[in-house]
Amino acid sequence: MDIYRKVSDIRLRLDKAEGVVGFVPTMGALHCGHLSLVKLCKSATDITVASIFVNPTQFNDSEDYRRYPRNVESDCEMLKNAGCDIVFVPSEEEIYPEPDNRIFDFGNLDKIMEGYFRPGHFNGVAQVVSRLFDIVKPDKAFFGQKDFQQVAIIKAMARQLNLSTKIEVVPTVRENSGLAMSSRNALLTETQQKNAAGISQSLFRAKEAVKQNVSPAHLKNEIAEMINSVPELKTEYAEIVDGKTLEPVSDWNRHSEIFACVAVNIGKIRLIDNIQLK
Ligand code: PAF
Repeated sequence: MDIYRKVSDIRLRLDKAEGVVGFVPTMGALHCGHLSLVKLCKSATDITVASIFVNPTQFNDSEDYRRYPRNVESDCEMLKNAGCDIVFVPSEEEIYPEPDNRIFDFGNLDKIMEGYFRPGHFNGVAQVVSRLFDIVKPDKAFFGQKDFQQVAIIKAMARQLNLSTKIEVVPTVRENSGLAMSSRNALLTETQQKNAAGISQSLFRAKEAVKQNVSPAHLKNEIAEMINSVPELKTEYAEIVDGKTLEPVSDWNRHSEIFACVAVNIGKIRLIDNIQLK
């Protein structure tokens, strides 16, 4: 596995590469969820490139940025064992030689849920992903379903910028307890990890409740109540939205794909999760 830190060096290597280039962008602190992206990328492409870069422009909270777990050495070891071919570990200067002042317009997609509670977050995601795509020029890029809204934003960005990169979505990987794997889980104490499983358990129960003909408005309140009944968990939002437009759903029959999405605070850590209801 080759590790590059400079744009010019990775470009030299990729210019010589033959076949389909697959890309797994990450912020490091890798877990089995990331490895499932690498695995799928390997099976669907000829060259697997991963990047590790904690992107400052997508953090609206500087404390969250400072606290974000960083373990580049063990990340590289995991990527090597997973059969990754190339890893890009750029510095901030390599990614942003000049400040990136671009403002994207995603319409409603970034006005709700993560976009509402983390203003500027998705603009930063679009900045860094478009910059990384420009450097790696992948044929296919792989993202986790856990970041449901991020996937919608990246697809919109690729359409707006006329990029030919195909966006592939990979199912969420969960702990045995049901807790969605996330780099932020590393910041939870053992008790918090146990309590945090209440997030996915509430979503699983919500999926069952849909069969009992409860209204979306009622179910969304129930999800928040179920989560809040678990010690330490505080729901920031629970929404039931259309799978493509992310518009709030008020009638199950008017949408072909429907997701329940939540953000939950546990101590100082904020976790997100989602489940497809239809
Ligand atoms: O999902 C993430 O880890 C990040 O948002 C991404 C896509 C790597 C951009 O920094």
